[in-house]
Order: sequence, then structure tokens, then C-alpha cells
Amino acid sequence: MSQTNEYPLSLKKSKSLLAKYLTQEVFNELKNRTTINGFTLKSAINSGVENPDSGIGAYVGDEESYEIFSELFDPIIEEYHGFSKDDKHKSNLNPDDLNAPNPDKDGNYILSTRIRVARNIANIPLGPAISKEQRNSVEKQVSEILTSFSGELGGKYYPLNNINENNRASLIADHFLFKAGDRFLESAGLNRDWPNGRGIFHNNDKTFLVWINEEDELRIISMQQGGDIKEVFTRLTSAITKIQKQIKFAYNDHLGYITSCPTNLGTAMRASVHIKLPNLGAKMDEFQSIADKYSVQIRGIHGEHSDSEGGIYDISNKRRLGVTEVECVQDMYDGVVALIKREKELSQKT
Ligand code: ADP
Ligand code: ARG
Repeated sequence: MSQTNEYPLSLKKSKSLLAKYLTQEVFNELKNRTTINGFTLKSAINSGVENPDSGIGAYVGDEESYEIFSELFDPIIEEYHGFSKDDKHKSNLNPDDLNAPNPDKDGNYILSTRIRVARNIANIPLGPAISKEQRNSVEKQVSEILTSFSGELGGKYYPLNNINENNRASLIADHFLFKAGDRFLESAGLNRDWPNGRGIFHNNDKTFLVWINEEDELRIISMQQGGDIKEVFTRLTSAITKIQKQIKFAYNDHLGYITSCPTNLGTAMRASVHIKLPNLGAKMDEFQSIADKYSVQIRGIHGEHSDSEGGIYDISNKRRLGVTEVECVQDMYDGVVALIKREKELSQKT
């Protein structure tokens, strides 16, 4: 992609963190810089420029981008994660440190629990800058490792360019597979050569799944019906440990696991429940203020940028960097407990 000398006009009316921190001065400073993989400022900001309704608006092509364009990414990371450029990331994958007894034993509120982490292989570009050959080789390497697993984690790989259409549609409708055509990813260069090189691995029960070459090279997922958060976390941590024995992932002490979007850095973990909160859904201001207090994010039930249906929401941890995996899940858990408490109070009033 060629460099541009003009400050992008669309950012002038955008509320994204990109628009906030890419001042004319920072733009001038960064516009001629390039990473070793040829990744430029123009590529990093294209998603936010083409989608001014972005919340963040920037992606990176490699680990080095976070340094080369640090004048832009440091403040974005600081505001999103509350993590400064001198902080160190930390990790704790021990399920015994989690205090999360099922907050909804009668099954009145929580429909399902899902925890995922993103991973990218060390020393190759991330999705926005990866070549077709590199992407295909990631697919081959990862799918071969996964299909060698047995027991609870054993399963099958379904490449997107060779999947039965009914199977693909029902995997999406049932919340197991990513959708095609996301406009934010499209502008970030993450949909190049679609659908080649992408696919999903899952076990028989669809409780352990891995997305290959979507927004990140791997999305490792554990999910199941109901609110047994500890069981979901335990399955995920054992899968991560097993995969990490065979693949070296991009990681550093400051940013933790390296991901294409700065929101996913660190643990790269999003722990969520699908939960029925119809009364809070009718009081969005109060709902949002409880979510802000507990650092949780509200999404619709068909994933990011989707709407709620039938008063069901996706509630997940917002911070992922500078907190451990256990703390990410704990954030989600504490938020969910507070939301259920308020939902109960509101339902008694009506
Ligand atoms: P990601 O979590 O991978 O960043 P999305 O928000 O797009 O991305 O979610 C991906 C898919 O996972 C969507 O189909 C979404 O409905 C589903 N999902 C997320 N959380 C849950 C959950 N707790 N239970 C069931 N499905 C979920
Ligand atoms: N780029 C989109 C935005 O800025 C999504 C950011 C966070 N989500 C993600 N899937 N990385 O709104």
C-alpha cells in the first residue's frame, strides 16, 4: 500500500481512539515509517479511516508495528487497558485461583459460557500483513497439530473453502463459527484471499474449538451450555498448555501475547456469558453504568457489532492486558453477579 501525505478527513468526525490519538502532528511523524515486513501507517489505520464508527480503528501487521508506531499505539493501549508503556504484563492460568462458583445454578439467566484466547505464531507477520503462502502454512501446521489430539480435545478440522454450506451456516447460527465479510476486518486487510487458509477445528461436543486465520492466526475457544465458568476455564487452560508445547507464539513481557488489534493484547482473553437480562435491557443507561463499574463489555448475541435478541446479551471482560487470565475471568464473573442481582430486583418491581 502506498503512503499518503494527507491527514484522513474521515477521522475529523470520528469518535474512535484512532481519531483521538492520531493528531496531525503524530500523523506527520509516522507517515513515512515502515516495519521490517513493509507494514505502513496507512495499512494500520485503514480500518478506522474507512469505518469512522470504529471504537478503536487501528490494527498492526507485526509485533514490531507496536514499537514503530508507538506514538499512536501507546496511548490507545493506555486508554483501553489502563496500562502504561512502562508496565509489565503478567499471567496466571491456574483454575484453582479462580473464585467462580456457578452464579446461576437454577439456570434462570445464563444460557452459555465461552472463553477464548487469541494467539499468533512467533516470527511471521500477523493477519493484516501475512502473505497467502504464510497463511496457508499456518493453516497446515495448526490443523495437523490439532487433529493429532485425542480424548476430550480430539476432533476434526473443517477448512472454509471445503465445508458443506449447511454445516457452515448452522455453525455460525449456533455461535461456533465466525461470520464472513466483517467490514472492519475487510478494511484492515484481514479478509484477503478469503476463504482460503481459514477454517475451524472442533471436538465432537463443540466444547473445544479453534478458529484458524480469522482476525488472529488462532482463536482457541472453550464453551458449553450454562454457567459453570470454572469448568470452561479449566478446559481452555489445558488446551492452551497442550498447544503451546508445539507452537511458539508471539509474546513479550510488556504486551503479553501479540494480537492484530490492540484491544486483544496481553492475555488475549475474552470470557463471556450469554445471559437473559430483559429488565436491564430496557434501562440501557443503568445497564451500561453497572458494566462500566465492573469493567465488562455488553455485546449482542451474534457477536461483536450485533444486536441483542429477546433480552439476551453477551457480557465479557473488557481489560485483557496487565491483568492475568484468572483476573479476566474474575472481572466477567463479578460483573455478571452484579447484573443478575440488579435484574432480580427489577423483575420483582414489575
Ligand atoms: P470473539 O469473542 O471471538 O472476539 P465475537 O464477539 O464476534 O468474537 O463472538 C464470536 C462468536 O461467539 C459469536 O457467534 C458469538 O455469538 C459467540 N459467543 C460469544 N460468547 C458466547 C457465549 N457466552 N455463549 C455462546 N456463544 C458465544
Ligand atoms: N476495529 C473495530 C473497532 O475499532 C473492532 C475493535 C475491537 N474488536 C476486535 N474484534 N478487535 O471498532
